[in-house]
Formats: sequence, C-alpha cells, structure tokens
Amino acid sequence: SKDLQIAIDGPASAGKSTVAKIIAAKLGYIYCDTGAMYRAVTYKALQDRIDLTDEQAVMQMLSDTKITFIPGEPVQKVFVNNQEITKEIRQPEVTNSVSTIAALQGVRKRLTVDQRKLAENGGIVMDGRDIGSTVLPNAQVKIFLIASVDERAERRYKENIQKGITTDLETLKQEIAVRDQKDSTRKVSPLTKADDAIEVDTTSMNIEQVVAKILEIVAKKS
Ligand code: C5P
Repeated sequence: SKDLQIAIDGPASAGKSTVAKIIAAKLGYIYCDTGAMYRAVTYKALQDRIDLTDEQAVMQMLSDTKITFIPGEPVQKVFVNNQEITKEIRQPEVTNSVSTIAALQGVRKRLTVDQRKLAENGGIVMDGRDIGSTVLPNAQVKIFLIASVDERAERRYKENIQKGITTDLETLKQEIAVRDQKDSTRKVSPLTKADDAIEVDTTSMNIEQVVAKILEIVAKKS
C-alpha cells in the first residue's frame, strides 16, 4: 500500500526533522513535526506568563486559544490565534522550556488527539518523541534515530553558524543533554524506543545515507 504511517522518534537534534522532510517529499507524503506543537503551546504560555508547571492554568489557556498547524514545505506553519509564530517557536527560551510543558498529561492528551487525526489516512511522516510508542502504535514504519551528544551538538553548532547565530558548543551540549534527560524521565509518554522500532545510529552517517537507509526500510513495507 502507499499510504503508510512513518514514525520517526529520537532525542533532540538527532536530525529527525531534516530526514523526515526529505522522505515525505520523496514519497509525496505529509510531513508533521509534532515538536512544533509542544513548542507552540510553550510559546503561548511564556507569552501569557503562565507558570509552566501549573497544569490547570496551561489547560485553561489551551482551551481559550486557537493553535493551527499548516503542514507544508519547506516548513510547517504554526499560528496562535491567527498570529504566525513559525519562527518564534525556535527561540532558545522556548527550546529550553518546552520539556516542562511536554511533561503535562493534559497537554499531551490534547496534542495526541490532533496528531492521530492528522495521521488517520496515512501518507504521513511524523517526527517526535512518542510517535511510535504512543501516538501511532500501529505505524507500519517506526524509526528511532540516535546520535552521540557530541555529534548532535556539533551539527546544531554548524547549523547555527550557517544561520548567522553564534553559540557556544559546550552550552549546546549541556542544553541537549538536559532536554534528553527531562524527555526520557517524564511520567507520561517519555522518549523511548518502541519495541518494534528500528534503531538507526546516525553518528557517522550523513543525511543522504540516513535517508537511503530509511527508504530501504520503507520499501520493505510497501
Ligand atoms: O522535536 P523538537 O526538538 O522540536 O521537540 C521539542 C520538545 O517537544 C521536545 O524536547 C519534547 O519535550 C517535546 N516533544 C514531545 N513529544 C513529541 C515531540 C516533542 O514531548 N512527540
């Protein structure tokens, strides 16, 4: 069949979105970045100065807010109450707070419903932390992308330089490690490899090699 669900999970900065986008384009599938959803909720909560650990307050904000995701190339656009926040959700302040919001059960429940709806007809590549384990347990293809912290920090460092952003490599390493730690140890749907996911260690692979490897796995299922 050609309308598969492809789940790509893994720790921060493992290259999930980069390869997921390429694979979606090659297969003519929708690409869905679920991290952007958690980032959008975090952005709005920060903007409203809500205590990020106050689940009730965050849920109240969510029910009063319209958050819209428009899948598309090259980036999925994100809006909150009709204000576009596609760029804003990548700010370091959001990145370093998102794991706190992502630990809230109510938030996860809400976003999981939206994610399942987007994926119900297949033909989708969805990346995140809990897609294979929780959101789409029946996905035909489940990939768990990993790479060493050093390698992931270096990739992010180079990416930032290309964007004209100066960052400190050691700080990046620390931020990535802290986020992984929080995401892996939370009670609800922690970052984890689903039993039936295929682990791909990209530490010594380039993007083309990772894409080829995943397409090989996809071809066996189609
Ligand atoms: O993928 P990205 O790094 O943009 O995700 C941002 C954060 O959103 C993650 O660190 C994690 O806390 C949360 N997240 C999640 N479950 C997902 C996707 C992202 O908890 N499926």
